[in-house]
Amino acid sequence: MILALILPAPTIEVVYNTYMEAEGIVTPKIFNIDGTDLIVDNSSLHKTLTMTSTFNLELMDRHYHKMPKTQYLGSKERLVRWLYDNSPKDINVFFDAFSGTSVVGHYFKNKGKKVIANDFLKFNYHIGKALIENNKVTLTERDIKLLLSKNNKADNLIERTFTNVFFERDQAQFLDNFRANVELLNNQYKKSLALTIMNRSLTRKVLLGHFAHLSALRYSRDPARIKRNPTIARPIKDLFLELVPDYNKAVFSNSQKNKVYCENTTGLISKLRGVDLVYFDPPYYGRHPDYQAFYHFLETFVEYWNDKEFVNGTKQYFPKKQSGFVKQKEVVSSFKKLFAASTHIPYWLISYNSKSYPTEDIMIDLIKNHKKVKVVHHEYQNHYGGKGSRQGTKEYLFFCYD
Ligand SMILES: C[S@@+](CC[C@H](N)C(=O)[O-])C[C@H]1O[C@@H](n2cnc3c(N)ncnc32)[C@H](O)[C@@H]1O
Repeated sequence: MILALILPAPTIEVVYNTYMEAEGIVTPKIFNIDGTDLIVDNSSLHKTLTMTSTFNLELMDRHYHKMPKTQYLGSKERLVRWLYDNSPKDINVFFDAFSGTSVVGHYFKNKGKKVIANDFLKFNYHIGKALIENNKVTLTERDIKLLLSKNNKADNLIERTFTNVFFERDQAQFLDNFRANVELLNNQYKKSLALTIMNRSLTRKVLLGHFAHLSALRYSRDPARIKRNPTIARPIKDLFLELVPDYNKAVFSNSQKNKVYCENTTGLISKLRGVDLVYFDPPYYGRHPDYQAFYHFLETFVEYWNDKEFVNGTKQYFPKKQSGFVKQKEVVSSFKKLFAASTHIPYWLISYNSKSYPTEDIMIDLIKNHKKVKVVHHEYQNHYGGKGSRQGTKEYLFFCYD
């Protein structure tokens, strides 16, 4: 009854998965996963996996290109397979309409679909450019050398705005220098990849992975916190270098012309032709709908705003972009407009959550003006393999069809 994992540390992320049993997979004694040996005593495998919540079937497929781990409010990293399993299979073109980390689009790209992705925030657009639209361009040693070299023409937006807010001065200067060097890369996908990897390094660096609090620096100087999470005290440069190989590996071709946009979805969607399935994962009102409040720094870093004010303690840029899904009074009318603009797309999948507004019933009424609908509920699994819930919430999926 021994489960031995022979893994160089960050190779496998531990994800709960019941599919092995559900799909009747016979567990062999040795898997070779991503070049890494996983040795198991199969008699205890199911039990142990259930208890430690640990497996990802896709890792068994050598042709599967793993998305690096995301850290983003509302990321569907743990639900992608459930989403795919609940989507129609007779589709060619998939539109990830609120793409965030692009983890859902990346999964559908792996499945050979033509993927269109869109997010109204630029830093998310760059993820899509780097990992969805980009079929082959990676960062080379030479690119990395360029990105880390001294740039005498670098501006100091980050240093003057964010020193002692999220970063020590030397780290803020490093970011200004890096940002200037991104512009020296000679390819748009390289630029997007460099920005994407740097942004992920920054969410690793800042405790809680977002920029809506002012505790990051205090925590990064606190030995007890550092002991629990050494990453917060590490130089950004090291975090960046550590992530490059994983991101390079996530770049692949699925022989489709995938395409990424950075627009307001409601305006974009009526212009898109040929989409078979759209996935709507808008901000959940009632949870954390204002993505610009949490991730403003990443947007400032990629846009390198020079025409904005920086307000409040966290130095959020102002004015912000209008989402339509942030204030309660606007949400229902935003859904109405979105659905009315999407009638030409045969299938819709909509993620939603039991704590959100509009409620499930209101959503069904809104959808029924245009499509038939089935609702699938998902309960999060707890660490012991039983039904649990993430802060008492359930995830819904509305499957809508003509
Ligand atoms: C729940 S998150 C999506 C998460 C994504 N599915 C994932 O797995 O990472 C919602 C996303 O919608 C974007 N967003 C909000 N309002 C938008 C709008 N009007 N048009 C396009 N994107 C919008 C936000 O920037 C945010 O990334």
